Amino acid sequence: MFGLGGKNKDFKVTIKNTGQTFEVKGGINLLQAAQNAGIEWPCDCKVGSCGSCRAKLVSGKVKELADFAYTLDADMLKNNYILACQSRLKTDLEVELDFDQGAINPDYK
Ligand code: FES
Repeated sequence: MFGLGGKNKDFKVTIKNTGQTFEVKGGINLLQAAQNAGIEWPCDCKVGSCGSCRAKLVSGKVKELADFAYTLDADMLKNNYILACQSRLKTDLEVELDFDQGAINPDYK
């Protein structure tokens, strides 16, 4: 009741390039929420190492659960790319996603 700072609010995500939308409930990360909604979001490691879950943030804010700079390069960071498996929503989001993308860092394992 006290001290949670609104962490578990529900938010809505729109994948701008497909028009798909889904809810994010209970403070789970963006990737988990997409998978719960049946969206085939690209992913592999789920720990922020491979970069395959990256999406371009068009609007909204996320909390980085791990430093995106470890995996995403400077150009991607400048262009508002995020890692879905390491993003907790602070607001509703609009993202763009390439469903055919692979890992950035094939040596993550
Ligand atoms: S699934 Fe590998 S960085 Fe998110």
